[in-house]
Amino acid sequence: MHLRGRDFLDLADFTSEEIQEFLHTASLLKMMKRSGISHTPLTGKTLGMIFEKPSTRTRVSFEVATYELGGHALYLGASDLQLKRGETIGDTAQTLSRYLSGIMGRVYSHQTLMELAQYAHIPVINGLSDIHHPCQALGDLLTIKEKKGGFQGVKLTYIGDGNNVCNSLLIGGAKVGLNVSVATPPGYEPPTRIVEQATLISKTTGSTMEITNDLNQAIKKADAVYTDVWASMGQESETEARKKIFLTYQVNIKLLSFAAPEVIVLHCLPAHRGEEITDEVMDGIHSAVFDQAENRLHAQKAVLALLL
Ligand code: CP
Ligand code: NVA
Repeated sequence: MHLRGRDFLDLADFTSEEIQEFLHTASLLKMMKRSGISHTPLTGKTLGMIFEKPSTRTRVSFEVATYELGGHALYLGASDLQLKRGETIGDTAQTLSRYLSGIMGRVYSHQTLMELAQYAHIPVINGLSDIHHPCQALGDLLTIKEKKGGFQGVKLTYIGDGNNVCNSLLIGGAKVGLNVSVATPPGYEPPTRIVEQATLISKTTGSTMEITNDLNQAIKKADAVYTDVWASMGQESETEARKKIFLTYQVNIKLLSFAAPEVIVLHCLPAHRGEEITDEVMDGIHSAVFDQAENRLHAQKAVLALLL
């Protein structure tokens, strides 16, 4: 009951035990789906999904998750809402609270979600902002737990841009006691505030956080190697410049040979094949990217079932 009614904006807002509870519930719901056992705690409930940016996984997995839990999901394109014509976020949040049981938002600015959450009387779930992607990280932790049997002593190496996905992995990894190493080109490190926060949390769970520009250092003994696009949504104008800057930070077969022998490869998707990851790695035996994509469904079911 301590989770009911809460917002899900940033994994830092939850204790390690609460994150473990999300993961445990996700595994349970996954097992129930596999066994054909239906569970419909969202009967009579509707989730509104506000999208300022495109999406494949987040949109479909949230819609299916809500449906399978007995509820109904509404796609709300941000440009179709009166928000587009100047209605305030606060008025929108208060109005939607009269119809819905929860709001999921994919937005440009994290501030938009904070404002929605401030005025809404129902849980607001972050479906990606410029700073965080907690639903992604929760699905990723579920994947690592399944593939590696737990988190203690497991090393996750993130290679590429210190972006929203990286930030949530640092926070989520620290919360569950995963050792996280991040290698980025100089100037593309995750924000200092997030690194400091993750480091502080990791001290309570006995794990380590490392931020470096040295790819070879980061990849050593990695149990999971993770990458994401070099230019995120909203950074399209930097795409060409970033291709040059990130060139050597590609996850390819040669790089993978320096990781642990049983390494798994993760990517939040969508991938730009041939840029941050090669076809060989994406489609190779170490790749877990589609199991990872599937786990968004199970992880988000846990979030919906526990919060709404
Ligand atoms: N990983 C992820 O959030 O994918 P979408 O952009 O397709 O939702
Ligand atoms: N970092 C990427 C993740 C997409 C799921 C972006 O924000 O575009």
